[in-house]
Amino acid sequence: MKPAPFDYLRIEQAQTAIDHLAQAGEDARILAGGQSLMPILNMRLAQPRLLLDVSACSDLKSIRGQRGALSIGAAVTQAELEAWPSLSSQLPLLHAAIPHISHFQIRNRGTVCGSLAHADPSAELPLCLSALGGEVVLRSSRGERVVPASDFFLGTLVTARRADELLVEARFPLALDDTGYAFDEFSIRHGDYAIVALAGVVNANEIRLAVGGVADSPKVRQWPTLHGSDLDDALNEFAWSLDARDDAQASAAMRRHLVRQLGTRVIARAHMQRTQRGHSPLPPGEGRGVREITPAPVPHPNPSPGGRGAHLPAVQKRDISLMINNAPRTGAASSRTLLSDFLRHELGMTGTHVGCEHGVCGACTIRIDGIAQRACLTLALQAEGRDLQTIESANSNDSLLARLRASFKRHHALQCGYCTAGILMSCADFLRREPHPDEAAVRAMLSGHLCRCTGYTPIVAAILDVAHTHA
Ligand SMILES: Cc1cc2nc3c(=O)[nH]c(=O)nc-3n(C[C@H](O)[C@H](O)[C@H](O)COP(=O)(O)OP(=O)(O)OC[C@H]3O[C@@H](n4cnc5c(N)ncnc54)[C@H](O)[C@@H]3O)c2cc1C
Ligand code: FES
Ligand code: FES
Repeated sequence: MKPAPFDYLRIEQAQTAIDHLAQAGEDARILAGGQSLMPILNMRLAQPRLLLDVSACSDLKSIRGQRGALSIGAAVTQAELEAWPSLSSQLPLLHAAIPHISHFQIRNRGTVCGSLAHADPSAELPLCLSALGGEVVLRSSRGERVVPASDFFLGTLVTARRADELLVEARFPLALDDTGYAFDEFSIRHGDYAIVALAGVVNANEIRLAVGGVADSPKVRQWPTLHGSDLDDALNEFAWSLDARDDAQASAAMRRHLVRQLGTRVIARAHMQRTQRGHSPLPPGEGRGVREITPAPVPHPNPSPGGRGAHLPAVQKRDISLMINNAPRTGAASSRTLLSDFLRHELGMTGTHVGCEHGVCGACTIRIDGIAQRACLTLALQAEGRDLQTIESANSNDSLLARLRASFKRHHALQCGYCTAGILMSCADFLRREPHPDEAAVRAMLSGHLCRCTGYTPIVAAILDVAHTHA
């Protein structure tokens, strides 16, 4: 469960990535958030020669309004879009869908464009782009082309992107004030990939419904306004047309059932939302995209000081300097060293545990620049110049971590403790963002962690106890 060797290049400007893609083609892979690519590399399902890390690329880090659409740059994370203040009014469909994407620890790092480029048939963002009739912008040394969603998603993890093209931005059409939008999905647990996901867009004349998780890419169907048994018949015909298959998670019959049931619900919700939008119109100028939107204050990651960490051939090691728990630390890593291994084996900080190395168990969760992230899906080189917090800081004066730890002890919220360090690190980020969560929010946050021996009831109680007394 470790990646094969590769050269690593930290990209500061999009054009640099495009130049390298022109030379290396299929031998190179773009690393955006790494939340899909790193598990693939860890499992050696892909072995690229060169990784082009665009996550800190300043000219790909913008959210802006453009000709009736919201353009989202390739380095914008799902969490940054989720926190964008105008999301609920400008893109209500994304506002409803994003919380269903995985767990907040994954959204903290995963990008919007990375999800589109990855093209998982169950993923929420390709579904929303398809439902809204959006498009992506692909740039290479040969020029730029704009590809509509309907032509972009070709199959399971297959898109129309050519090997030398960088997906520089995605354009999601802004909400119209005479239109309603709704999203729903069925998954085994909160944050799991959807078994079936649906996105509905409804106006006075038309219903547009997109389905994910059934066929090999999002499928869209459009009807004139339908009601009652006409709508039931249309949904039934759509469900059968998707050629659903049985698999370990659900039978084809169950998937068709979900398309019919959730389809009815999503269309009804979109109608209701349209009525409500009619009663409370969007602020003047918003909605039809006639107005430029002020770019969101997206935080930029630390630049690599003096270019350190910018390029590392596979065979070499480099010293990495970073802050850990408020103290400067330095250690050597190769390009493929995972941050979890760097902490444990190079620096001897074994409080960060390793369970799955594909982002699911949460045991390796730490905070990077204050944000909870998976150390097993982060390269050690990406931590150059960053400010890390690990569970070892619970021994110092972090009062929130200390109170969480005491509460876990009081509520018997751990047995072997293997999962506990990661859960505490997630909680430290979660409670700073959401100081007074209810039980449902705590359980949604905990869906990003697996505990194999304690059970979640005392863990939830311990977190809520701290939340209720949080200053
Ligand atoms: C435990 C877990 C659960 C998850 N659950 C869900 C879920 O429920 N729903 C969901 O939608 N996703 C889920 N994901 C995936 C997550 O949303 C990823 O963030 C997303 O699929 C990829 O975004 P990324 O920025 O991390 O891309 P990366 O992992 O960096 O890249 C993914 C692929 O896209 C390519 N790529 C990325 N950016 C570009 C670009 N700009 N131009 C060209 N190619 C590019 C990469 O080369 C790679 O092949 C889950 C992930 C994990 C680990
Ligand atoms: S070891 Fe990182 S999430 Fe499991
Ligand atoms: S306490 Fe043992 S796995 Fe959670």
